[in-house]
Amino acid sequence: MSLDRCHNFHDFRRLAQRRLPGPIFHYIDGAAEDETTYRRNTEAFETCDLVPSVLRGVENVDLSVTVMGHKLALPVYCSPTALQRLFHHDGERAVAAAAAKYGTMFGVSSLGTVSLEELRKAYATPQIYQFYLHKDPGLNRAMLARAKDAGVDIMMLTVDSITGGNRERDLRTGFTIPFRLTAAGMLQFALKPRWGINYVTHERFKLPQLDKHVDMSGSALSISRYFTDMLDPSMNWDHAADMVRQWNGQFALKGVMSAADAKRAADIGCTGVVVSNHGGRQLDGSRASFDQLAEIVDAAGDRLDVLMDGGVQRGTHVLKALSLGAKAVGVGRYYLYPLAAAGQAGVERALGLMQTELLRDMKLMGCTAIGQLSCDNLRFR
Ligand code: LAC
Repeated sequence: MSLDRCHNFHDFRRLAQRRLPGPIFHYIDGAAEDETTYRRNTEAFETCDLVPSVLRGVENVDLSVTVMGHKLALPVYCSPTALQRLFHHDGERAVAAAAAKYGTMFGVSSLGTVSLEELRKAYATPQIYQFYLHKDPGLNRAMLARAKDAGVDIMMLTVDSITGGNRERDLRTGFTIPFRLTAAGMLQFALKPRWGINYVTHERFKLPQLDKHVDMSGSALSISRYFTDMLDPSMNWDHAADMVRQWNGQFALKGVMSAADAKRAADIGCTGVVVSNHGGRQLDGSRASFDQLAEIVDAAGDRLDVLMDGGVQRGTHVLKALSLGAKAVGVGRYYLYPLAAAGQAGVERALGLMQTELLRDMKLMGCTAIGQLSCDNLRFR
């Protein structure tokens, strides 16, 4: 199957599976424990239906939105995700370039494989920095200052990863950074020689957001151990409030799931929250982001921008979330599979398909601007 035969999320997923060594595919594709939340994130969009309006003259549709002070041409953005260099040798560069082409924002992870400074210089589109609070306060201060100096637009503190999720697929394959694989995992790499050749003939794998502070040359680190050993489990509202003050700019908490926490985020001066369960990769059994969205918009949507991610595979999923009051919707696996399948061209195709779906769906809904969507467009079953 080639890129131009990919028409949706499922096609990209299949192509990525074909290209990636098993342990890497399963790192992206997997989630915590029984993966209930992961599945539920997408199923939740099917608990309600769109109710279109007709005869409204829809020749020109404007998909732009303003999110945390930034105008985006699309109501969909590339959520920050870790380790992109493992999925394709161009990594974050490919994602940033595609996001810029479609006029939307992208996230750089603390566990990113290209430096936030390089990405900031290369692409004018708004950049999110996804922050993990580490045990080492010096590292936290340095990371925040670096992001400020680089001109990052939105600081996003991840609050749902205080310890590693129980990702059993990774336990089975032995997925770690750098690799230290089980015998079965090794075999998976041997089966995908093209990936291996690309990996070793391109730039060395590194974590430039952290490399002055984390020695990657020693023992291999599983994602779960990174969370558990390096991140600060004492993180609380005072830490978040301090960071908001120090940052003194657009600041969101990523991984807020309760109305009370969203209100508290507004109280400490956050300008956004992302309703998210980390793609079902942390607390299995956590409620789906979409199921929790309306309650959070009601509680705090007048004081900060509510964003959401989790399970989004279609333009109609995005329209449902926007109808409930989300200001924009993040995608993760939706662009990671195409990244793995075909680098920048893959991500561009995925965002292009999303844009086309959104334009078509808006017309079919009888809407010409995102602001026209409201809960009147939805009925829950
Ligand atoms: C993950 C982290 C690193 O979900 O964001 O794997």
